[in-house]
Amino acid sequence: MDRIRIRGGRPLSGEITVGGAKNAALPLMVAGLLTDDRLILSNVPRLADIQTMSQLLEQHGIAVDFVTNDGRTLSLGGAITNTEAPYDIVRKMRASVLVLGPLLARVGEARVSLPGGCAIGTRPVDLHLKGLEQMGARFNLANGYIDGKVDGRLRGAAIVFPFVSVGATENLLMAASVADGRTVLANAAREPEIGDLAACLVAMGARIEGIGSDTLTIDGIAKLHGAEHAIIPDRIETGSYACAAAISGGSVFLRGARLDHLGATVRILREAGVDIVEELNGLTIRRLNGLHGADVMTEPYPGFPTDMQAQFMALMSVAEGASMVTETIFENRFMHVPELNRMGARINVHGASAIVRGVPGLSGAPVMATDLRASLSLILAGLAAKGETIVNRVYHLDRGYEAVEQKLAACGVDIERISG
Ligand code: UD1
Repeated sequence: MDRIRIRGGRPLSGEITVGGAKNAALPLMVAGLLTDDRLILSNVPRLADIQTMSQLLEQHGIAVDFVTNDGRTLSLGGAITNTEAPYDIVRKMRASVLVLGPLLARVGEARVSLPGGCAIGTRPVDLHLKGLEQMGARFNLANGYIDGKVDGRLRGAAIVFPFVSVGATENLLMAASVADGRTVLANAAREPEIGDLAACLVAMGARIEGIGSDTLTIDGIAKLHGAEHAIIPDRIETGSYACAAAISGGSVFLRGARLDHLGATVRILREAGVDIVEELNGLTIRRLNGLHGADVMTEPYPGFPTDMQAQFMALMSVAEGASMVTETIFENRFMHVPELNRMGARINVHGASAIVRGVPGLSGAPVMATDLRASLSLILAGLAAKGETIVNRVYHLDRGYEAVEQKLAACGVDIERISG
């Protein structure tokens, strides 16, 4: 299994190009199920999750091809020939459940493995199922699978989500685009990735109002057509490298990064002492003076993202003063804490909150990555630590960060991947 070795203490200096957003790319690929025509997606990040999604769509009958040599432009097309999403693929990636709505909407049946628990919490799919039931689907859960059927077409419905879910909003938005009649999704997620999906669906002919707000109104049409769409830059990759510049005491230009997609991340990082300047084609991030403790609570967009919590905690572990980090989205997302503490951080968890008491320095250690964002948190700690840090289980990292070690090494960091 690959590992990453970092020798800490070098400030980042240089430029990093931010890739396309993983969490936009995955639902956009699923949108390929909504048409028999070709959907061309550009700015696709090169990640393990993209490969997994390609595999899933291919076994549904969709041809997925990279049409440029750089592997960043995907063509999807073809008719649905199989409606089963098998356990072996779904267990690798929860976003697989996004095929449920589009399959029911297009062919009236779907058999999708239940995603089950994962390291960061139980993560049920009840909102996806309830919303689709309101649109006329019937479900039977047996043998670890969701068996869904619709008599005729899915019908438009007024759906009020009891709380915000990114995945449920995406599933229902896609299904509603080709359902019979009007659907209103209230208390919908407003993440920039939802806006990106909606923009692509509109380019495919869908009729959607309220994009960017928490109420989406969709007038279903019988058929969507092909389109070309460029994926937005990854705001979590942006925030993660901003933390890298800050924790190492360096400066980095993040090419392609968008300030208007960062929500509360900008305010919190600035409060902590990170300088963020918007330029023509990206953002310049610097740590001017010391870092200060800042309190955060994770919330749906535009609040502070749960996907930035572990990275921010690494940053706060070397800030002056204390910070309180409260996780409200996932119930078990502090697994990086014991690993950060092994590197000398002083973090105590009390229920959903962690108190981080800043220390003057961290020390390198062998550590274990437990999930995608925790992996990056440990790399960040390694940048600031004295001596050598080895991050084990980097397959988590490869699901969502493209070429981290190359991007950081190009900015002067002493980092390498050890294969095997
Ligand atoms: C997406 C992101 C993930 C991010 C998360 C929250 C993708 C591929 N993944 O995940 O990186 O951390 O949003 O910003 O875009 N819930 C239910 N029932 C449901 C659905 C969700 O109880 O039917 C709960 C979840 O367990 C969680 C909360 O709602 O506690 C938010 O989850 P959701 O927004 O759905 O996250 P994902 O779409 O899975």
